[in-house]
Amino acid sequence: MEQSVGTYNAEAQKNIKASWDKFARVYDQFIQINTLQLFNTLLVHTHAHQRKRILEVACGSGMHSLYLAKTMLQRGAVLVSTDISEEMIGMYKEKFEGDEDFTQLKNNKLSIIKGDIENGFNPESYFEDGKRSVVAGLANNEALPFTDASFDCYLANLSLMLVDNHLNQLSEALRVTQPGATFGFTVWGRREFVQNMACVHDVFERNGVNIKKSPSGKTPYDLGKDPEALRAVMEGMGYKEIRMWYQKCNFAFKDPEEYVFSILEGTINKAVLSELPEEQAAKIRAEVREEYMKRMGGDHVMDPNHFECLIITAKK
Ligand SMILES: C[S@@+](CC[C@H](N)C(=O)[O-])C[C@H]1O[C@@H](n2cnc3c(N)ncnc32)[C@H](O)[C@@H]1O
Repeated sequence: MEQSVGTYNAEAQKNIKASWDKFARVYDQFIQINTLQLFNTLLVHTHAHQRKRILEVACGSGMHSLYLAKTMLQRGAVLVSTDISEEMIGMYKEKFEGDEDFTQLKNNKLSIIKGDIENGFNPESYFEDGKRSVVAGLANNEALPFTDASFDCYLANLSLMLVDNHLNQLSEALRVTQPGATFGFTVWGRREFVQNMACVHDVFERNGVNIKKSPSGKTPYDLGKDPEALRAVMEGMGYKEIRMWYQKCNFAFKDPEEYVFSILEGTINKAVLSELPEEQAAKIRAEVREEYMKRMGGDHVMDPNHFECLIITAKK
């Protein structure tokens, strides 16, 4: 489907939210430690350690945010983290509140907003001289509640490829940032180099099951397979100094069981399997395990080149 900025499918957003809520806990336990590799790259290349107003969208369950807040957030800076999933923000709260090394320091300030962040939110009101301020709450990447030009750094690790209309996300990122702001996005890479996911998707397709697409019909591989097309779109919108490169983010699963469990229960694949008759879902689970052993797990060690992602950095 041809998309343009402003085409917003409200019904679809409810479904996206509901499916992420369902597997958020497994994602938190097994996946987010792996995607930290990409987040780290974004922090370095957006100079997050020198930024004052950082927005991290689709933050997940808070591991990355806590890492950023504890290791490089400056005093006098604000980190605002948002996600569409209540479960994710619930775990975010647990993570921060459970971390005494963050909460017990007098220069740190944590604010968790209940429910959707209200339109017109300005992070300036959370800024406190000499303190590191962290704010989290619910928001949709495609329609952010923040006032224009609120942030000087925008981070989106592994979300642009799965939102319904990525043009809305790109346009909102520009709107809420100040001139000179830095951007960091990541998306999945080329399917042939994303074996940890393609392994599952090839099994789905062999069994006549479609992989999960966004409501508008995009697969998560679509943006990362053609960086130049994405660059042209971003340049047309006004992004400057765009840099793109592929980087491996290989998952460090301990054994095939952990792989199969995480990849089928801790990602959007769970939503696909839960719609199938139990017998067919069981067949697919068994085949995914076999496929893993064939392609990546002969000696129970994953092929070290199995998850390519596209890093995108830019400036406003
Ligand atoms: C692949 S996870 C990435 C989480 C984290 N950034 C990471 O790197 O591990 C995708 C996240 O995007 C969130 N998400 C999906 N669609 C969204 C949307 N339209 N707006 C905001 N968050 C969204 C999900 O709830 C989930 O936490």
